Amino acid sequence: MTPTLPFDLVVRGGTVVTPGGTVATDVGIREGKIVALGDLGAATTAATFEARGLHVLPGVIDSQVHFREPGGLHKEDLATGSTAAVLGGVTAVMEMPNTEPPTTTAAALTEKLTLARGRVRCDIAFYVGGALDNLDDLDDLERLPGCAGVKIFMGSSTGRLLVEHDERLAQALSRGHRRVAIHAEDELRLRERRHLAAEAAHPRAHPVWRDAETALTATWRILALARRFGRPIHVLHVSTAEELEVLAMCKDLATIEVTPQHLTLEAPDCYERLGTLAQMNPPIRDGRHREALWAAVRSGLVDVLGSDHAPHTADEKHRPYPQSPSGMPGVQTLVPLMLDHVAAGRLSLERLVDLTSAGPARVFGIAGKGRVAPGFDADLTIVDLAARRTIRNGEQATRCGWTPFDGTKVVGWPMATVLRGKVVMRDGQVVGEPGGRPLRFIDAMPPSAAVE
Ligand code: DOR
Repeated sequence: MTPTLPFDLVVRGGTVVTPGGTVATDVGIREGKIVALGDLGAATTAATFEARGLHVLPGVIDSQVHFREPGGLHKEDLATGSTAAVLGGVTAVMEMPNTEPPTTTAAALTEKLTLARGRVRCDIAFYVGGALDNLDDLDDLERLPGCAGVKIFMGSSTGRLLVEHDERLAQALSRGHRRVAIHAEDELRLRERRHLAAEAAHPRAHPVWRDAETALTATWRILALARRFGRPIHVLHVSTAEELEVLAMCKDLATIEVTPQHLTLEAPDCYERLGTLAQMNPPIRDGRHREALWAAVRSGLVDVLGSDHAPHTADEKHRPYPQSPSGMPGVQTLVPLMLDHVAAGRLSLERLVDLTSAGPARVFGIAGKGRVAPGFDADLTIVDLAARRTIRNGEQATRCGWTPFDGTKVVGWPMATVLRGKVVMRDGQVVGEPGGRPLRFIDAMPPSAAVE
């Protein structure tokens, strides 16, 4: 009888969320991959992780983060952002192009990949931003290694990326084939209504200025163009009931992201309580929209949860509205907040896993990730569903040092993060040297790599 090869790591005794159901099983890992599920009590292994009493989830993939490097290092960098990720149970991130310079060229993408090497604690890919001077190059750019795809801002937000007119958007969608991530707010309407924010001089006016119509108009426009070119799109941080109704008619083309903050916070309370800390684009809206987002999460209409981790310093945020920048950190609080929603019965653990692991892998075609199953990367988010904790500013690894959820009590907490078979976070401490690698995408691979 051939002796069974020893495992590098066995995660023992946990309750594991697998594609076939949530089951008590050990997970055997070798050379960074999951190779066995089952009772591995008798197996030889170099290391064991005792997971009794814990739930073992596929590694959480956050497909929308802003890590600010290069150009915004006083807010965040790739090292601090990815440390926040693994402390929060996140094993892979997809980083946005509105840095300075923006990621709009092959050289800028290469620069980010170089900066990431040896400094990121989770796996990572970088979006390329659509800009007026690169629209004809997007089909080449989106296929570069380490590229998460193309991201387009239809309305201006942080940074200077903007593609506002339909002819230009058509030019962008007509070149290339990967799914295009869209920030859908209508720039013309934003400009026409900006005086409302200035006049109110309080962030409670943020969802009045950037109203539901602003989001819906842009979503309609981009859906019409996506239909014209048969191009798949991914509508980021969907925030309105009306957009969901329209998107539900276009699931052959459009996937949908919602954020934990749109599911957790509500206007007007959040603006009265948190002021400009609750200011983001598109805005946090009232209970009617929040309820619609929850219904869409439960029904399966929503595809992924992304944190839209968008750090700004407390000083910047405390400028008088509307000079205050939009965005809040979130990569470290995504898992705790969502586990708390699971504990409260708002969604099942399995639905959460679909939104944070299987969903992003499916939507973006991420190679080898998103499931606890043989052959997949051994990325695991190990959580205690019963842990009672309080989210604290002092425990946030983001350089901005604050979270809108400071003081929030939650039930459920990430206890360990495993990246390709290595424990990279345990009990709130990072472990080992940064070993994150670029994500690989099925749609961007040359044929030889796809069958590797
Ligand atoms: O609120 C936001 N902040 N929305 C965005 O689209 C960009 C982000 C940022 O980068 O600060």
